[in-house]
Amino acid sequence: MTEFKSDPPKLSADEKLNLLVEFGARISSELRLDKLLDIIAQQITRMLNVGRCTIYLKDGERHELWSKIAQGRGLEHTEIRVPLNGNNVVAIVARTGQTINMPNAYEDDRFSMDVDMVTDFRTHSLLAVPLKNNAGKVLGVFQVANKADGTPFDKKDEGILLLLATLASSSIEIARLYQDVHVAQLETIYRLAVTAEYRDQQDTRAHLKNISIISYLLALALGMNKKEAELIKNASPLHDIGKVALADNILLKPGRLTPEEFEIMKSHTIYGGRILEGAHSKVLQVAHKMSLYHHEKWNGTGYPKGLKGEDIPLEARIITVADVFDALCVARVYKKAWKTDDAYLYILGESGKAFDPRIVAAFKKIYSSVRKLYLNQTAAAPQPPAPAREEKTKQPFDFSEPAKM
Ligand code: C2E
Ligand code: SIN
Ligand code: SIN
Ligand code: FE
Repeated sequence: MTEFKSDPPKLSADEKLNLLVEFGARISSELRLDKLLDIIAQQITRMLNVGRCTIYLKDGERHELWSKIAQGRGLEHTEIRVPLNGNNVVAIVARTGQTINMPNAYEDDRFSMDVDMVTDFRTHSLLAVPLKNNAGKVLGVFQVANKADGTPFDKKDEGILLLLATLASSSIEIARLYQDVHVAQLETIYRLAVTAEYRDQQDTRAHLKNISIISYLLALALGMNKKEAELIKNASPLHDIGKVALADNILLKPGRLTPEEFEIMKSHTIYGGRILEGAHSKVLQVAHKMSLYHHEKWNGTGYPKGLKGEDIPLEARIITVADVFDALCVARVYKKAWKTDDAYLYILGESGKAFDPRIVAAFKKIYSSVRKLYLNQTAAAPQPPAPAREEKTKQPFDFSEPAKM
């Protein structure tokens, strides 16, 4: 978050110096932008002994400034955006690069009460300084409000806040670059995944999104930390990347595949494994295991290798539950959509057979959230019936109805 509210204690000069050293050390080791802004806002709140610190960053593309502010008791974060050409304090500071110091904000018409309203906070004195990089370019604005002793901000406060902004600027620039690269990587992965899936899916985006969300929730329910879970979430859309190598007459065949065709279909795991083999990034390494092993089964009857139990990488044991659940819930060229609860019962029934019992247990825990996800989607976007539906029900081996349990 970029905003922090507290009742800070009074600090001695020594303690302030310590904080300054700590400030430099902590911000230089943090690459996640949200976390970094959070730390900066917290430290500034303590060091300047103020009621609140808010950091705004420039979004050049949208000609706006944005900040994440804590709202309500639960400290949920809301993003607020301010037009750069507007007439309020932060926009003016960002445009002019000049500090603004208001002894009484509510009497100044450059002050907007919007943020106070949503955060249940009353701004009295306010100080806003530009955040500039080494080249003097304005990256954003640091704003503080309400000195603990009730006095207006003075020249010394202005100097300290500017100093802290200068200290923080290169860390913020680096974290932004990292974020851009990270976002570019996710975008690339996602678009690659769409490429692999768009031929045989009615709604590729929903399919990829659902599988990501289910994998993520499963990973968390299994006790993984957020970072590991995010890796799984981000890698999961690529599990079927090997399908790019399959010919249309197999991938798009309306109705049941012959045994020979199914043998070819199985090779999408091998192709996926080859495409992602030897990747350097962690997310593609996870994607490699997922694409190669997502059709292995816990009891050893899956493909391509027939691995059994914990010989199957955990990432693959997770994605397979998410994949099968989603595949059951939607219509394919070869089958109708199942009811969400029937798909759930199928997953439970495959515990210890297709699926790792631990993962099925985790799926039980998250099912109420998963169920909502699917119910909301059918409510929001009714799908037209797939053209191949009727045809499929007449196939000798019927995939279109849930198995009897
Ligand atoms: P998919 O459609 O995404 O299905 C993924 C997995 O979900 C399947 O892996 C299977 O384990 C499960 N699944 C999907 N639909 C059903 C169903 O109606 N009943 C049951 N019990 N399980 C279901 P599987 O079988 O290894 O198939 C892998 C991929 O091969 C499928 O991905 C699909 O693209 C294709 N495929 C499988 N069977 C047929 C078929 O009869 N006709 C066609 N055209 N394609 C098929
Ligand atoms: C898909 O049909 O695109 C995903 C299911 C799979 O083959 O695992
Ligand atoms: C899959 O991994 O998508 C299919 C294997 C299974 O049914 O367990
Ligand atoms: Fe697959």
